Amino acid sequence: MLKNFWYAVEFAHVVDSRPRRITCLGQDFVIWRKRDGSVACLSDLCVHRGGALSMGKVVEDRVVCPYHGWEYESDGACMKIPANPPGRGIPKKARVDAYPVVEKYGMVWAFLGDLPEEERPPIPHIPQHDDPRYRAVYWETVLEANYERALENVVDAAHTPFVHGSAFGDPGRPEIPDYEVTETEWHAEADVQFSPPPAPGIWGMLYRTKERQPVVVSNGWYLPNIVKLHVRLPFGDLILYDHNIPLNRDRTLVKIVGYRTFYTGKWADASAAKRIGKIFEQDRPIVENQRPELLPFDLSAELHIRSDALQVSYRRRRQQLIDRGWWIGEDDDANSAAARREATVIPSPARRDNPELARAWVHKPRGENTDEPARRAE
Ligand code: FES
Ligand SMILES: [Fe+2]
Repeated sequence: MLKNFWYAVEFAHVVDSRPRRITCLGQDFVIWRKRDGSVACLSDLCVHRGGALSMGKVVEDRVVCPYHGWEYESDGACMKIPANPPGRGIPKKARVDAYPVVEKYGMVWAFLGDLPEEERPPIPHIPQHDDPRYRAVYWETVLEANYERALENVVDAAHTPFVHGSAFGDPGRPEIPDYEVTETEWHAEADVQFSPPPAPGIWGMLYRTKERQPVVVSNGWYLPNIVKLHVRLPFGDLILYDHNIPLNRDRTLVKIVGYRTFYTGKWADASAAKRIGKIFEQDRPIVENQRPELLPFDLSAELHIRSDALQVSYRRRRQQLIDRGWWIGEDDDANSAAARREATVIPSPARRDNPELARAWVHKPRGENTDEPARRAE
């Protein structure tokens, strides 16, 4: 799992002024909407006795711990300790990690890492979101599989005729012509040609193409966990962005935003979401049963062919970021079944701004003094 990225952690329309627990990278966070409309994100770990702040309440934009009522500002500073008599100061160390948040493309994005603003990788550009020709629909599920297996599955063109039948291509003609991968620093994509479906498939009566043109699907990944699938149907375009949110290394919260140019009325949202779900459920048993469960670090540990080029480019780029120290060790996972004696957190930007405070901080950053797989792999 990679730190130092913006993660879309929740659909914006479900976030309100109540504290809400979200999980990502094997750690819990609390988010809530403030009175000015902005969203705050803190580590869900009270510095006093480790109470879950998300189980408390929000009073005047501060989250209040449910255990002894300590109050935290959205910058992570504790402002009130009710058990202290009036006049007693608040220790400087009484603060929790706060993470930068932006709201964009219908999602709440939290920056989970400690990079200063100018060094942070960008949020991918999603041009469809503000384009009136498109209608967005939102769908989510929990997958009992590693998020990288989930991500690779979507950029894997060759599985479609086997797992999805004639939904996008012709199972009788499963070959994938060589395609070219376009890469930038943070993403890669390709146009992949399929033989056209032999029958109308799931799109029913709407299939009207006279000539059997190849079906072109644009496919791509954006670091750290987003995949795009652009399907051109005879009657319009469907563009899916899947956010594969690593709850921990074994479980993935998949949040999908689907944009379509056809049937753009609200009345068609439910059936559009249902179609997304139907396709996803065809993938689920395959991905949940892949072994090894985790993506190998060594490229030669699995066999790749030409049609796997998008996956290979993902694995190569991932390795560069592991070498840069962005990998979060799986051995230190708050959501694993094993009880721990020390709670650690994803380091937030404030730790870099104030190294002295960071050293004294109660909760230590993830990966410190642990034998991370990244280091083991070297
Ligand atoms: S554990 Fe949060 S106030 Fe005591
Ligand atoms: Fe699939």
